[in-house]
Amino acid sequence: MLLPRVEPKRSAHGWTSRVALVGWGVLLAGNVAAAAEDLSVFSPATRPASSIRDLFFLVLGIAGVILLIVEGLIFYCAYRFRQRRGEKSEPPQIYGSTPIEVAWTVAPLLTVFVLFLVVVRSVTEVRGESPPADSLRVIAIGHQWWWEFVYPDLGIRTANELYIPCREEGSTPTIALELQSADVIHSFWVPRLGGKTDHIPGRTNRMWFDAPERGAYHGQCAEYCGTQHANMKLLVVAESAEEFRLWHEQERREANHEAAVDAGRERFLALNCINCHTIRGTAAAGTVGPDLTHLMARRTLAAGACVNDHEHLTQWLADPDAIKPGSEMPNLHLSRQDVDLIVAYLSTLH
Ligand code: CUA
Repeated sequence: MLLPRVEPKRSAHGWTSRVALVGWGVLLAGNVAAAAEDLSVFSPATRPASSIRDLFFLVLGIAGVILLIVEGLIFYCAYRFRQRRGEKSEPPQIYGSTPIEVAWTVAPLLTVFVLFLVVVRSVTEVRGESPPADSLRVIAIGHQWWWEFVYPDLGIRTANELYIPCREEGSTPTIALELQSADVIHSFWVPRLGGKTDHIPGRTNRMWFDAPERGAYHGQCAEYCGTQHANMKLLVVAESAEEFRLWHEQERREANHEAAVDAGRERFLALNCINCHTIRGTAAAGTVGPDLTHLMARRTLAAGACVNDHEHLTQWLADPDAIKPGSEMPNLHLSRQDVDLIVAYLSTLH
């Protein structure tokens, strides 16, 4: 069936929309580049990450040389042995050549052997020794679809934002992660800190790295784990020893108790919220969802799905699916009044 041809509309301000389009493109490219730099294996901040980046360039280099040789030979042969004017008969047909057979067996063997050696060297660099005994131990548990971080030696349990001490003059702490899963396979990946390591149900995988420079490092679950896999982000925050000490002292405290928000606190404790969430210092002791004792210390909600502010918290309680479709957080069909009371309470949990 033929569709009627639609004439493109000629706009008197065609150039403005073109400029806008170009501007939008530049903005988008800028955002992608900024995100790419942060989620990039090309700006490593630790030794394992550098080792992985170097290996990538080496393999790329070797593959590039092979590409040039093979393509070069193809173009050379196509030109050198092309059919010339007046040539009617087929050129001599050759079947088998021992020197060529030997060459193209030995060359790939040598290449693969060299690659094997450098990969083994990189693997030992990434995973070689055990972490030092005084490493900061963190148990990272993958959930559908968020991260739980437990600091067994500090008595802290938090979510989605991994705080670590950074490298400082005279001290380079090691961060030793024990990766576990509460449900399906996930993969811990913070490109600037190290390679991907899976969270496998029923076993503990380990990874460790020297603390990076002070700063924030973005990460992402790297193993498809269900509908919200893409929204299973994490943030690693590397702080000075002093900042980290203040952070973990604050995290260890029980939840704030402000009389002004008692009504919201009572609603929270009377509802199903307590079956999944813990707020230390109250009766809420659920372990299915994130610990909310210091909820407001976190920058995002729902593993990076949105900013953690009053507006989004309200939306999250009223309709979690609007922010993260398929999330395990149920819609409790709370009244507007209950949502407001509970958000007011949660907003005091610094
Ligand atoms: Cu967790 Cu993908």
